[in-house]
Amino acid sequence: MSTVSVDALAHVPTFLDDVRAYLIDVALGRLPKDAERLTSIRDTVEQRFADGDETEPVLETLVRCSILCGDRDRAKTTVELLTLRFPDNELGTAMLPELNRSLGLADTHNTFDDDGRTNSVLNEGELRSRATRLESTPCVLEVASTNVCNIHPPCVQCWKHFDPIHGYINNDAKHMPKELIRRLAPWIGRARAVSLHGIGEPLAHPQIFDSVKHTGPGTEVVLVSNALLLTDTRINKILDNRVASIDFSLDAATQETFRKIRGNDLNAAIRGIERLREARDERGLDRPHICLNMCLMRENVREAPAFVELAHRLGAARVHLFHMNKGANYRFEWFDYDDQHCERDPETHDAAIEAAFLRAEEFGVHLVMSGRRRFSETRTMASAHPDPNAEGETFFCSKPWTSMLVMTNGDVFNCCWQDRPIGNMNHASAWDIWNSTTLQEIRESTAAGVPHKKCVNSRGNLCPYLGRV
Ligand SMILES: C[S@@+](CC[C@H](N)C(=O)[O-])C[C@H]1O[C@@H](n2cnc3c(N)ncnc32)[C@H](O)[C@@H]1O
Ligand code: SF4
Repeated sequence: MSTVSVDALAHVPTFLDDVRAYLIDVALGRLPKDAERLTSIRDTVEQRFADGDETEPVLETLVRCSILCGDRDRAKTTVELLTLRFPDNELGTAMLPELNRSLGLADTHNTFDDDGRTNSVLNEGELRSRATRLESTPCVLEVASTNVCNIHPPCVQCWKHFDPIHGYINNDAKHMPKELIRRLAPWIGRARAVSLHGIGEPLAHPQIFDSVKHTGPGTEVVLVSNALLLTDTRINKILDNRVASIDFSLDAATQETFRKIRGNDLNAAIRGIERLREARDERGLDRPHICLNMCLMRENVREAPAFVELAHRLGAARVHLFHMNKGANYRFEWFDYDDQHCERDPETHDAAIEAAFLRAEEFGVHLVMSGRRRFSETRTMASAHPDPNAEGETFFCSKPWTSMLVMTNGDVFNCCWQDRPIGNMNHASAWDIWNSTTLQEIRESTAAGVPHKKCVNSRGNLCPYLGRV
């Protein structure tokens, strides 16, 4: 056995062979376990992996190291990636059932059909049976890949104005660490849809599509963007990476309002969207679908009908209108968060939204609205989140079974409304969080028709996702 230091070995081609032989000897008890050496090997191989080396020998070595270091969660996520990438790998197929058993999980969800659908089927079953401890992983994975944004100061309504973790207030916006994306890789591979935005601009991340290489064949990649960074290079990357749809947040139909809300030139955003559309059509692709978002406030709500027309001109597949989330209250220049909420002027809001729906019908635009279309109607938690299986008014939400949102700093939520994280991936594995006591309690309480305290934000407001204000 070589006595050369691990660091030095990392630079010679035989490194993995030598290490492999050593790890097998330790596993078989032919050599004693040297914790320091094992950790050092693991760190070196982890670094290679973090640098993008996902070859079979690297993954195999990582699995062996993690098992010998007692890190079963890490071993499991790596073995899943190994079997996903290299289905015939013998170590992967041998270790998977054993690792699952040691973690108290069945191994059914780790076999994939051609569309990567097995996890979805298991997830649907667990949702239907209201299981509290899950063997499936989320079908919808939101990866907040960056909180860096190109718009300074942020758009008036953006929570960057008051929420320090998103890095405007304390100026420490960051991209999600590669290590975190790597740990999420098997979960990305099993998801039906992966979104890549958080509270930041995804296209500001130079390696935004790195996580896409972990997606399974049936995974749809989606993102929300401000449309201001659509250079030819980025457009080509979007098309190369088979992005399924992009929601462009314009929030305005006129130059003046766009400048007030988003501080930029509306025509620049429109030109970018048009270039993306042309490039997509030139390649003969039908994706990404181009969708337009309008975050409604008193300043822009009158433009909702014109926004529908703009969407028609741009050939958008869908327009999404939604209200500003409740839970913030700050002033920025002309903007007063509380006062700008459309609830403050229900008549103007209701008339504009009605007109927008009529315009959508006239132009054949697919218009969807989250939340209240008319403020004259009252809403309860149950009417906003109806239980599909119950008669009468019962609350239900599927997200505790189907969705996981991982913020740039590793905080984990089911959705962006929960304002206190369920856990953080720097201190626990994704599995531990997904089946944590808290998340099991959320599932139990949701199944009983009672929203968990984590799902009612700290100001007692109704969750905006399904029942936006
Ligand atoms: C935070 S942005 C991140 C992606 C990208 N930077 C963008 O602007 O589209 C995602 C979405 O959140 C919306 N948003 C921002 N502030 C909001 C708020 N206070 N309430 C509700 N939605 C908000 C944006 O308009 C955008 O559609
Ligand atoms: S572009 Fe998006 S992330 Fe950036 S400030 Fe605006 S809403 Fe926030």
